[in-house]
Amino acid sequence: MERNKFFSTLGISAGMLFLAPMMSSCSKSLDNSTPTPGGNTSAVDFTLDLTSSAYAMLNSNGGSVVKDNIIIARTSSGAYVAVTSICSHAQYNPISFESAASRFHCPNHGSNFSTDGSVINGPALKALTKYNTQLTGTSLRIYS
Ligand code: FES
Repeated sequence: MERNKFFSTLGISAGMLFLAPMMSSCSKSLDNSTPTPGGNTSAVDFTLDLTSSAYAMLNSNGGSVVKDNIIIARTSSGAYVAVTSICSHAQYNPISFESAASRFHCPNHGSNFSTDGSVINGPALKALTKYNTQLTGTSLRIYS
């Protein structure tokens, strides 16, 4: 009786050992997604009211703000640019805008990106997702 109980217990343990890696690999495949702005995969489309104090930084060349995991910047020439604020290397968030160099910078490992999101230097290898901007009066639309 003791022996049967022992093997019975061992069988359950072996079964659990067999299933554990399978369950783990299932959850890994679900968690393997890359963070996206706003935390979802839907299209980006929102408008900033530049008269709001929350976006006052965008009224001066070189200013930037982060909203919904997107960094919106006004370059030294006055153009509005927008890219994801989540670094493509190890998902540090948020990256910053360096107006003097006209680039986005990740302080985590030092990657730099141009205003169109392309990689200037790594360790990042993948460009940042770029979004369109459209200024109408004092409304700045950000959209994909
Ligand atoms: S997380 Fe940005 S460079 Fe590594």
